[in-house]
Amino acid sequence: MELKVNPTGRLRGELVIPGDKSISHRAIILGSLAKGKTLVRGLLEAEDCLNTIKAFQAMGVKIIKKSPGEYLIEGVGLRGLKEPEEVIDCGNSGTGMRLLTGLLAPQRFYSVLTGDASLRKRPMDRVIKPLTMMGARIWGREDKYAPLSIKGSVLSGLEYTLPVASAQVKSALLLAGLYAGGDLKLTEPGQSRDHTERMLKGFGVNLHKKDNRIFLDSKEEIRLYGQEINVPGDLSSAAFFLVAGLITGESEILLRNVGINPTRSGLLEVVKEMGGRIELLNQRQAGGEPVADIMVRSSYLKGIVIEGEIIPRLIDELPVIAVMASQAEGETVIRDAAELRVKETDRIRAIVRELSRLGVEIEELTDGMVIKGPSRIRGGVRVKSYGDHRMAMSLAIAGLLADDMIIIEDSRSINTSFPEFPGLLKQLFQ
Ligand code: S3P
Repeated sequence: MELKVNPTGRLRGELVIPGDKSISHRAIILGSLAKGKTLVRGLLEAEDCLNTIKAFQAMGVKIIKKSPGEYLIEGVGLRGLKEPEEVIDCGNSGTGMRLLTGLLAPQRFYSVLTGDASLRKRPMDRVIKPLTMMGARIWGREDKYAPLSIKGSVLSGLEYTLPVASAQVKSALLLAGLYAGGDLKLTEPGQSRDHTERMLKGFGVNLHKKDNRIFLDSKEEIRLYGQEINVPGDLSSAAFFLVAGLITGESEILLRNVGINPTRSGLLEVVKEMGGRIELLNQRQAGGEPVADIMVRSSYLKGIVIEGEIIPRLIDELPVIAVMASQAEGETVIRDAAELRVKETDRIRAIVRELSRLGVEIEELTDGMVIKGPSRIRGGVRVKSYGDHRMAMSLAIAGLLADDMIIIEDSRSINTSFPEFPGLLKQLFQ
């Protein structure tokens, strides 16, 4: 499948941003583990989350679609999951696979997790190692790659400092910790997204958190109670339109219902520092998360340095930030982002290659990149997405400025996180 993008002068309109992927995964998981019913509204109906729904259905959880984005989950309680008959396929989703590994390690049954070609190349040892320290029995190719086979075990507590700031590793350990015989004490080297902690608290789990330390006390009884959850829109999806509005001329876009959790909103800080005109309107809470409508207008941008503690708070937005930087005056330097190399593809290499093909002056660093702007974007070019949804969408945004149509190869991956993307982008053409 290919995505053809035509250049445009300006973008105008209002969009409602679909549900947050990270929060949707967690709502499905915790709703399944709760006692009683959980009603989720605004759930992201993209392949990644639909695979997580299928995984829980395969383990005996009734999950019923009531209307678009609205799902009723009949939770089975912490000990109510059943051994799945078949191998569980997590598709493209690192979040699905890593969180499930943590959850399946303490079950009283055997399970196998697999995924697509991209997911089978991503490191799972970052969850296997600490889970094994808790007593888990998990096997993978080269002790590291899926398919993973998991023989449920009795787990003990763990005191552990994560080697990288990763919400997926943290969340896998928290899920395992719900079943552990001892305390769980985690320290993060930097702040990663905290949706799991927020939602566990919402479901009634007494989790203690101070700075980058998290404590789950095994003396306290752990039980989750069914909830109503309104999933906010995904800032990582809004990011494409936000950048599109900033870099195209005379644009004005209102992005409605966007999650602005500070552990995720590094992009907004970067945009402001680069001189972007964005306004947060109608700030409110939804599903235990801060939400706003974001007004974005065409802007004159200048290059900046992006490094250090902000990186985990904007890690998924870096490909589209690179596109934005290509239109900023001067040099933008991105450092401390080596984690980008183990995402759905090596995103440092991919973005440097494909933006170069489009005529951008961009240089690869081991842990980031340097982009010089503003750059003309070459049209009439075919670019590769490497089967990575965020690469495909970032390149589409670059294409808005090209001097002719560009073609993005292998764009099917957009369905993993944002199937509405091409349609919504078209809506903004005026
Ligand atoms: C996610 C955590 C991040 C992020 C991913 C979603 C999550 O990954 O990049 O898209 O939902 O927990 P890491 O935990 O590997 O940093």
